[in-house]
Amino acid sequence: MAARSQAAGGGDRPARSAPSGAAPLGSTPLSGPPPGEEDVLARLRGVVDPELGDDIVDLGMVRGVEVSEEGDVRLEVALTIAGCPLRAQIERDVRGSVGAIPGVRSVALSIVQMDADQRAAVMARARWKAREHAPATAVPPRARVLAVASGKGGVGKSSVTVNLAVALACRGLTIGVLDADIGGFSVPRLLGMEGRLEARAGKMVPLERRITDGVLRVLSMGFLADEDRAVMWRGLLLGRAVQQFLQDAHWGDLDYLLVDLPPGTGDVQMGLARMLPRTEMLLVTTPPVAAQRVAARAADMARRGYLRVAGVLENMSDFTCEHGTTYALFGSGGGERLAAELGVPLVGSIPLHPDMAAAGDAGEPVALGEGELAAVFTDLARTVAEDIAPLVETSGCTARLLEAVADAVAGRVDGAQRRGAPAGAAGDR
Ligand SMILES: Nc1ncnc2c1ncn2[C@@H]1O[C@H](COP(=O)(O)OP(=O)(O)OP(=O)(O)O)[C@@H](O)[C@H]1O
Ligand SMILES: [Mg+2]
Repeated sequence: MAARSQAAGGGDRPARSAPSGAAPLGSTPLSGPPPGEEDVLARLRGVVDPELGDDIVDLGMVRGVEVSEEGDVRLEVALTIAGCPLRAQIERDVRGSVGAIPGVRSVALSIVQMDADQRAAVMARARWKAREHAPATAVPPRARVLAVASGKGGVGKSSVTVNLAVALACRGLTIGVLDADIGGFSVPRLLGMEGRLEARAGKMVPLERRITDGVLRVLSMGFLADEDRAVMWRGLLLGRAVQQFLQDAHWGDLDYLLVDLPPGTGDVQMGLARMLPRTEMLLVTTPPVAAQRVAARAADMARRGYLRVAGVLENMSDFTCEHGTTYALFGSGGGERLAAELGVPLVGSIPLHPDMAAAGDAGEPVALGEGELAAVFTDLARTVAEDIAPLVETSGCTARLLEAVADAVAGRVDGAQRRGAPAGAAGDR
């Protein structure tokens, strides 16, 4: 496939090519003042990386555009691989496109190679773009999908996920919990759930736990991890676990799906972005500034994967001792600063509290209890359900229509998946 160059942000102009370096563009008179950086970028949106199938600006391949007062343009284009066979084409198209902008005297182009992280991000973005229409999953269209993420480990993602899930279930809702930490799963232990996943018609049936009027439906590698089962599921799951959890599972009707992500900014997040682009991220951070920076990186990755950041949760905030004195052991205000930096709400702050660890070990989430922490999670669930990610009113036409279409596509029998029907009920996929 050939690289193509299209005019952007202006009429069609012939693309002139220049040999190399800061090549002057010959004797063509300069017409008008030099362009702004935005004009250069706009024109470069017409240059497509033929392999990735998207324009080089959108793919984040163009950097450091500078235009001098004399109309000399300098810029850098980062290729996924420097020895890319399409390099010459892309180089020619960039020079041609920029050179054709009125007011440009010369174009100095340097081609560099992306590092592994940048390449991964670009590839993920390209994959996402290639799938404008995300594949069908077993997650019902009206379910809000919230992924709990952080840039680094041990900040409390899993604890927050399970307790928020429990507190939402206490509102009488049906909550899916997807433990996407494939290698380091902890959701089964935190929820005190044991068991083995059964398959029906080749699809996994989540394990259930009733919570007052609500219900949790949980999928985790922890339910597959004994030797025999692991062997049985290996072919199905390895490398594609999250995809399998989303597609090949009987989630049934859900109000929310909470996803407990592994630490970092890796493949699982990008896979989720590709499979369920409507996923919204809840970023967990601890008060110190360093943790915020890491969380900000996670947010950046989320954006590149087109995931919206719904809000920030500060965990391990102030510790109040038995005498009522409050200590900001890890500093304070970190969550608020990160939220402000990202322009998203601070959903809440969860205090550092020994009960959190004890409850986790006992498999009885603090959100089920009576104490101070339970109240914190009740508030958090209220904020999420009422402000941050309210459910779409199912009596509304659009939501009903969406459901009806999804049911029709899935071949479901009318009414087989109403709320309250057990996961995997008849007619359920
Ligand atoms: N608010 C809190 N107060 C006290 N201890 C907490 C609090 N939140 C989490 N912990 C404890 O911190 C530890 C790490 O929590 P958790 O496993 O939820 O973090 P994580 O971000 O999911 O970790 P990983 O990145 O390894 O998946 C656990 O022992 C947990 O009990
Ligand atoms: Mg975890």
